[in-house]
Amino acid sequence: MARKKHEDAGPGDAAGGESGAGSREIVPAEREGERAWQAALRPQTFADYIGQKELIDNLRVSVRAARENGWALDHFLFAGPPGLGKTTLAHVIANELGVNLVVSSGPAIDHKGMLAGLLTQLGERDALFIDEIHRLSPIVEENLYPAMEDFRFDLFIGDGPHAKAMAMQLPRFTLLGATTRMGLLSAPLLDRFGFHWQLRYYDLPDMTAIVQRSARLIGVGIDGAGATEIARRARSTPRIANRLLRRVRDFATVEGNGTIDAKIASSALDRLAVDHAGLDTLDRAYLTIVCERFDGGPVGVEAIAASLSEERGTLEEVVEPFLLQIGFIARTPRGRVATAAAYAHLGLPAPAKAPSGGGPQGRLF
Ligand code: ADE
Repeated sequence: MARKKHEDAGPGDAAGGESGAGSREIVPAEREGERAWQAALRPQTFADYIGQKELIDNLRVSVRAARENGWALDHFLFAGPPGLGKTTLAHVIANELGVNLVVSSGPAIDHKGMLAGLLTQLGERDALFIDEIHRLSPIVEENLYPAMEDFRFDLFIGDGPHAKAMAMQLPRFTLLGATTRMGLLSAPLLDRFGFHWQLRYYDLPDMTAIVQRSARLIGVGIDGAGATEIARRARSTPRIANRLLRRVRDFATVEGNGTIDAKIASSALDRLAVDHAGLDTLDRAYLTIVCERFDGGPVGVEAIAASLSEERGTLEEVVEPFLLQIGFIARTPRGRVATAAAYAHLGLPAPAKAPSGGGPQGRLF
């Protein structure tokens, strides 16, 4: 099965040496440009994949067992904030299994027929990736259960008292699920996965290696200090690192000699409003609101969202996980509190009640 060709082919041939076979995507058109870049920089094999070592080691074993015995791989679920590599892993797994991957997402599967359409595209041992799986509607989710358990899809022909139930047999397939909100997954759905794993934020050496690899693939020169500077400011998230790398490359090309060093990386990132801790405008606005308007908290996420005119979900899924990770906020039963480390970062005096924070940061940087 041919890989879907994107109009904006991103780095194109530069990544050609690592392009894998056999995946098919259903992609909203407006995101194709960014997605094409991500796809081009995506590792295709376990050997290319940097970081998440424990997970990759586990996956290697399961994938090898499935491949050598002709089994369909068990259904796997990956959880974690956006950009840590859940989609990438699905592509790597399908590639390593030598099977096709059909890609969709919870919100895109908005009725039972859509799910049937995806399942009937699958061949024996193929994989179906459902991103944002916590957003499946209850009716679609219910229809997924027999498919996952018994490789069966229940159809109803006709309406009312004359409706006839018909079971359609599906090939043995693997469901790969991804979620940014493990807590929103229903217990019956979670139960049907053979394995689930929380992806971690990447440490600085892994982030630096990812930036160096991506720079090589997009064909831009970068020295060690330049790669480290981008890595340090990318919120421990490969997708952000790849995005920042492309912006810094623009500055290096227009204002420098085309090669990225620490100086050009640092000045470009300053101008892109990405600070030394990797926080962007929304992260800083969040912290400033908690510290200044809510006196450091505790404050509920709804109140912060209303003050920022932001979606609560964006704060919970994108902003807060990293601020928690680096110890700038803490969660208490009464709401979020800003730590002394957050006040220090904003250059504000911390009230005595502020917890010290900064905890897990040591591990990362
Ligand atoms: N690009 C994005 N994520 C990556 C990873 N984990 N390893 C290598 N390249 C990547």
